[in-house]
Amino acid sequence: MRKIRVINGPNLNLLGLREPGVYGARTLADLETQLDMEAAALGIEVDFHQSNYEGDIIEAIHEAGEKGIDALIINPGAFTHYSYAIRDAIAGTSLTAIEVHISNVHAREEFRHHSVIAPVCLGQICGLGFDSYSAALFTLARRISGPRAGV
Ligand code: DQA
Repeated sequence: MRKIRVINGPNLNLLGLREPGVYGARTLADLETQLDMEAAALGIEVDFHQSNYEGDIIEAIHEAGEKGIDALIINPGAFTHYSYAIRDAIAGTSLTAIEVHISNVHAREEFRHHSVIAPVCLGQICGLGFDSYSAALFTLARRISGPRAGV
């Protein structure tokens, strides 16, 4: 079965408690339940990593490449805006990745408008709440398993 890894970066373990006006009232466990159900319907397996540490995130990306995982969905949190190391980790694997954000980063503070990760991703999806991840999952599932795989 095709497999997608979902990586959540710093402070996303606090979903539900953290700035609910921006990130909503649902938790990281709620997000994972939603994606598990959607992945099952798409015939895809998903696994989940959350870390507050840059090195852990880099290793989860390397491991995904080594283990033959088919694609990545990554919300790098604030690392989005300055982690060249995470960018290089994605560029260094042959994995297709989509960068996602719960909030619309372009409608927020200036420093959130720029992503150093997005240029090495297939695309960026933001502002749709948890559905940013669902949209990424749907897109990647089509790419890795459909007749148009790779297109
Ligand atoms: C975020 C947006 C980032 O700017 C912020 O640092 C986060 C969450 C989002 O999902 O909206 O931690 O990635």
